[in-house]
Amino acid sequence: MRILGFESSCDETAVSVVEYIDGRIHLLSDVVASQVEIHRLYGGVVPEIASRAHIEAISRITEEALERAGVTLSQIDAVAVTSHPGLIGALLVAVSFAKGLAYSHRLPLVEVDHMKAHVAASYLGENAPEPPFIAVALSGGHTSIYLVKSYTEYELLGCTRDDAIGEAFDKIGRVIGIPYPAGAGFDRLADQGFRLATSLEEGYRQAYAASPACADKELYLPTPATKDDTLDFSFSGLKTAAINLLHRYEMKGEELNLPLFAAKYTHEVVEAVANKVGKALDRHAVTSLVVCGGVAANSHLRDRLGRLCEEKGVTLCLPPLKLCGDNGAMVAAQGVYEYLSGQRATTALNARATDD
Ligand code: KG4
Ligand code: ZN
Repeated sequence: MRILGFESSCDETAVSVVEYIDGRIHLLSDVVASQVEIHRLYGGVVPEIASRAHIEAISRITEEALERAGVTLSQIDAVAVTSHPGLIGALLVAVSFAKGLAYSHRLPLVEVDHMKAHVAASYLGENAPEPPFIAVALSGGHTSIYLVKSYTEYELLGCTRDDAIGEAFDKIGRVIGIPYPAGAGFDRLADQGFRLATSLEEGYRQAYAASPACADKELYLPTPATKDDTLDFSFSGLKTAAINLLHRYEMKGEELNLPLFAAKYTHEVVEAVANKVGKALDRHAVTSLVVCGGVAANSHLRDRLGRLCEEKGVTLCLPPLKLCGDNGAMVAAQGVYEYLSGQRATTALNARATDD
């Protein structure tokens, strides 16, 4: 069975063909037209520009995805499309295109939840998980922990109460001059910071020595809400503390050691995730953890969650690095299971900005 998957929920137009044989999903093609360069000029995604760019790209990349897969539309069994959540004008482009294509070629159409699609990217990785498992989806718009009961049945265990984890990196990255989207640049800067010292605390001692005018507490950032018993996240307190810290340095005309700052900030974000994911693994008897979404590309987070999985005796399942960000393959992969479960969308399918 072959599925053609469409994704246009934010700033990537993406189309992919996957094939499902003997219980495994194989990637035949994966074409992504990224708009990052356009939005970088504005420091973030401009929804109206995103919608227009999706319209310009979608026909071309559909042809390319079919061509690279070496198939024609007559060899496709169903069409899958992200219908929610995301930017409404952006989502509507792939939804309308997929509906038109499915109708004109008499193909079944299935709708796909963007967050389930991020999780499904792990089915294309080395350790493809089998439900039940815990999944943590970390993206520019979401920070959610799920109990994946079956390929299509998810229970939300916790989510962010304010900023998403990707925003937490992008917003502070912007303040310290890393171009949008700042996640990957922040990752590299933090890497320099972690290397600067044998331990983070040692690094901070060095920073004190370089800047004795600073009070101790000025160099420390708070650990985000880890004390309560829920599996929810909160990153706005850490973000505000980081902005205040940066302002204090600016007002005093002192230079902050940016790599160390990035390392400390990353450390706090990663520990907050590890803390909640650890609790989720303690509460649910599963043997696999999926970590997915754009922020799953973060090297420090991957290391930390790898160690956590060893501690808890569960297998860490990561999507291939290039499938962590938005792509069509993850939509097609989730589309396989939606199709097999009997889900069908009609021509009345609409896009929705929200989660459900
Ligand atoms: O899943 P995604 O591609 O799009 C959404 O659905 O939001 O995630 C994009 C987010 C951005 O915030 C970007 O800065 C972040 O993923 N990101 C990273 C890294 N690579 C991308 N964050 C931290 N470390 C990275 N290496
Ligand atoms: Zn995404």
